[in-house]
Order: sequence, then structure tokens, then C-alpha cells
Amino acid sequence: MRDLELIFIVDENWNIGLNGDMLYKTKVDLDHFRNTTEGQVLLMGRKTLEALPGGRGLKNRINIVLSRDENYQAENIVLVNSLDQMEREIEKYPDKKIFLIGGENLVKQLFDSCTYAYITKINHKFKNFDSSIPNLDDLDNWKIVKKQGPVDDKTHLLTFLEYKKIK
Ligand SMILES: NC(=O)c1ccc[n+]([C@@H]2O[C@H](COP(=O)([O-])OP(=O)(O)OC[C@H]3O[C@@H](n4cnc5c(N)ncnc54)[C@H](OP(=O)(O)O)[C@@H]3O)[C@@H](O)[C@H]2O)c1
Repeated sequence: MRDLELIFIVDENWNIGLNGDMLYKTKVDLDHFRNTTEGQVLLMGRKTLEALPGGRGLKNRINIVLSRDENYQAENIVLVNSLDQMEREIEKYPDKKIFLIGGENLVKQLFDSCTYAYITKINHKFKNFDSSIPNLDDLDNWKIVKKQGPVDDKTHLLTFLEYKKIK
């Protein structure tokens, strides 16, 4: 399996979503997401796809979407129905980075293959949430290698962090 890179916006408890939506969206993070992932491959679960604008794949990126529904259709996606099929699909792009963009369910299955993470941390603890990702600050084998911010978006302070798995 190829190395995967996580890219998520999380709150202080590493929560990411509620009722199918992201916990928080803000232009400065959406720009960061676009700049980081443009031209590369995105890997996502069907529910994360449906949280994207219009429920379609993002432009200027290859959007590989996992669903067990073989008839699932959406604009600008490559549908795969299993992790094996997904693995074969990403082998077609040896020169591109593979970003795992969500959600919790896929991260649970693929975390062992993740070696790098772009994390935007919101300095806030949301009261309501139903999905999260592992807290990399609590894991000895993940280290912060880059930190930018905090940036004030007028609602919250956001810190852009990059983590690397070291063993
Ligand atoms: N804050 C952030 O940065 C961020 C980023 C991304 C997502 N999110 C949030 O995370 C939440 C979605 O996460 P989630 O965990 O509920 O869902 P998810 O991981 O996005 O999607 C789960 C779906 O993926 C498909 N799937 C999973 N494993 C599969 C496998 N091995 N083979 C084939 N298909 C497979 C299934 O689709 P079918 O049911 O169609 O079979 C499953 O229901 C939303 O609230 C979203 O907004 C937040």
C-alpha cells in the first residue's frame, strides 16, 4: 500500500464532523486545502463526497471515492467498491501524492498507511460532533514538523500544522 497523507480541519478534541457536515468551514482553510491538494489524488468515503459542494468531485484533482454501491454515480469521481480496488487505482498515479480527506470511517481503516498529516487546528471545542480522527499529539510516533499561525479568521484562531510519522 502506498503512503497516504491526511488533510483535516479539527477542533481541540480532534473532532471533524456533525450530521454529515464538517464542523467548521472557513475561507482561509478552504484555500489552504485547495493549494495543498491541487493536481494530486484525493481519496474519500462516499459520505465525505456528499459533504462537498454539489456532492461532486473537486476540480483539478483526481477524486477516488469508496462506496459498496456498485451503481453509485457522481460527477468527476472514480468509484471504487473495495480497499483492494482502491489500492489498484492509486497505483495508476505513482507521481502524485495521495491525500486521504475523510471521513472518520476511512481513516479508521487506513490509518496504518498514513505517514504525513496536514492539520488545521481550530482553537475551540465544539459541543456537538459525531466524528473524529486520532489525536496525533497523543501518539509518540507522530511529530510536528511545521507550524504556521495562529491566523484569526474573526471567529476562531486557526493553526496550520504538519505532522510526520517517524517510525
Ligand atoms: N473536518 C474535516 O476536515 C472533514 C473532512 C472530511 C470529512 N469530514 C466529515 O466526516 C463525516 C463523514 O465521515 P464518515 O466516517 O461518516 O464517512 P466516510 O468515511 O466519508 O464514508 C463512509 C462510506 O464510505 C464507504 N466505505 C467505507 N469503507 C469502505 C470499504 N472498505 N469498501 C467500500 N466502501 C467503503 C461506505 O459507503 P456506502 O455507504 O456508499 O457503501 C461508507 O458508508 C462528515 O460529517 C464529514 O463532513 C470532516
